[in-house]
Amino acid sequence: MELKLGISFLSLLVILHFESSHGQWAAIVPPKISAVQGSCVVIPCSYTYPKRASKEILNRWIGFWKKKATIISTNLPKWKLPTKYRKRTLFLGNLQTHNCTMMLDGVRRTDTGPFYFRIELPQYGRSYSYTKNDVTIDVMSNPPVPSLSVQVRDKITASCSVSHSCPSYPPQFIWSHPGIVTLRSKKLNMWEWETVSTVTLKPLPIDFNKNLTCTVKYRGGKQARNSVSVYNQNITPIV
Ligand SMILES: *[C@@H]1O[C@H](CO)[C@@H](O)[C@H](O)[C@H]1NC(C)=O
Ligand SMILES: *[C@@H]1O[C@H](CO)[C@@H](O)[C@H](O)[C@H]1NC(C)=O
Repeated sequence: MELKLGISFLSLLVILHFESSHGQWAAIVPPKISAVQGSCVVIPCSYTYPKRASKEILNRWIGFWKKKATIISTNLPKWKLPTKYRKRTLFLGNLQTHNCTMMLDGVRRTDTGPFYFRIELPQYGRSYSYTKNDVTIDVMSNPPVPSLSVQVRDKITASCSVSHSCPSYPPQFIWSHPGIVTLRSKKLNMWEWETVSTVTLKPLPIDFNKNLTCTVKYRGGKQARNSVSVYNQNITPIV
């Protein structure tokens, strides 16, 4: 409940910020996002520009994501990106709705940025680089150990959770023991998601004193795991 309130408060702040900054050049982006090396990261982005005097309808929006002078992503389908970024970036946003979200895949150690968004509005006769609202990627060479909690009653219920920044390709979970598995994801803030895998299983005597392990596999291949020994925690395995 508290978490929910926190989140809606945050989104309210974001909306307020968006409204108050409407009428100036501003990009709403997280300043820093963590991403696992080899995996992907979605940079959420929305942008505003000053109100125009002219009532002429805008029908062309050209957007670029840049690192210094290098263009790394664009909404222009035929634009030739540098080989280093071609097939690694995907412009997800819809510029018409002020959405400049971008995905970077196969994150490299050197992909720290800072990256910034640039808009070109031909009918407006204006363009702007949002260099003040740039984004840095904190590239983790190894993913953090997932959190693992366990509840033992007549059955064992274990939950393994990680936060990540690529909702397009969330990490996969592998359990050491078969059971009924459920998966859910929720948004933690503007750029982070939590994905939880829960397994429910009946302990068998053969499992006594063995570890229950959750392995988290990120897009690109990096893995992290955590284990818990459940079967020696004052329960009698059910035959
Ligand atoms: C922006 O676009 C992305 C990708 O389509 C989407 O997931 C996100 O919800 C959009 N953001 C807003 C504020 O609509
Ligand atoms: C069980 O997990 C613990 C904690 O992760 C680890 O230290 C231990 O070596 C594991 N035992 C076995 C038999 O894998």
